[in-house]
Amino acid sequence: MGKTHTITLIPGDGIGPEVTDAVVRVLEVVGEATGVQFAWERFAAGAGAFEKHGEYIPKELYASIERNRVALKGPVTTPVGGGFPSINVTLRKKFELYSNFRPIKNLPGLETRYPGVDLIIIRENTEGEYVGLEHEVVPGVVESLKVITEKGSTRIAKFAFEYAAKHGRRKIHAIHKANIMKMSDGLFLRCARDVSKGYPDITYGEHIIDNTCMQLVMNPYQYDTLLLENLYGDIVSDLCAAFVGGLGLVPGANLGAEAAIFEAVHGSAPDIAGKDIANPTALLQSAVLMLHHIGESEAADKLQAAIEKTYTERKTLTRDVGGSAGTRAFADAVIQAVETSRESATIT
Ligand code: NAI
Repeated sequence: MGKTHTITLIPGDGIGPEVTDAVVRVLEVVGEATGVQFAWERFAAGAGAFEKHGEYIPKELYASIERNRVALKGPVTTPVGGGFPSINVTLRKKFELYSNFRPIKNLPGLETRYPGVDLIIIRENTEGEYVGLEHEVVPGVVESLKVITEKGSTRIAKFAFEYAAKHGRRKIHAIHKANIMKMSDGLFLRCARDVSKGYPDITYGEHIIDNTCMQLVMNPYQYDTLLLENLYGDIVSDLCAAFVGGLGLVPGANLGAEAAIFEAVHGSAPDIAGKDIANPTALLQSAVLMLHHIGESEAADKLQAAIEKTYTERKTLTRDVGGSAGTRAFADAVIQAVETSRESATIT
């Protein structure tokens, strides 16, 4: 038997428990097929955790991530216009998970309006408008600070160029609104430009965010890797998810020097929670990223192949992508695909 990986698991809210349960079940079978074992340390976070422990993020959860350095996370509901601060933003800041990495790629067998999309979104994850510095100056006037630093901008630009260089990506566009936010976005751009000079083989471009949204919808193929500040990256990720079939599909990784949290781009989807209809593919593909991150590439490839086989067969797909299967049935189909590949490997 191979290595046991201890991983922090945050099931989350809404559809979170359903999609994390699907991933845990599938990973168990992938692990059996590849000699990898997973030990999960489960924690609630957010409103559920507060009810139980009187804390939105229990101390034990922080300690678990510190120890394991890897977490798999379901989406967490954040109250709108008040209430407690975002659990996601808090965890990203606490562990300095400065890079939010989101690959946007079509799955075989799933037709969309945009076939053959292959985009990488790299979003700065700790600064910008998401620092949470807001206050009411006088009644009726609220000030919200956007913080952009040279350190944070250079660090994310280096991550993007290093990733591109290592993975044969040819082009990076820094996305901005420096025509209006001359100082903050201006600094972000200057840092990206400076870093780009160290990578002469990668074409560097700059596009204004509003134009970028139009350009993406007209022709996403003109882009390769997008480098964005926090808020722009958040919005553009959902836009780009639509190219490949929607939010049920797109994975993500929050990466820092000390820890990594893997989670889907989507939220807790309260409109479909508890109905066994959510698509777990986005979190399954996040688990593929996680397996690569922990050095289990054989398991990662096996899981990706099983997901792709399930889509290619088109027999057991969830409603959001034109099927009628439930979350559990879809996970069962992926498990079946893993087991079939195991049997055929034994026969040959
Ligand atoms: P959402 O991403 O939860 O849902 C948007 C739409 O996509 C809904 O129609 C939903 O049914 C659909 N959808 C999302 N995931 C799906 C899946 N796996 N399968 C099928 N359909 C899916 O965004 P919304 O409604 O704006 O946010 C709901 C809550 O989630 C909010 O409290 C928000 O703060 C939180 N949120 C949490 C995130 C996280 O924990 N990383 C990320 C984004 C939002």
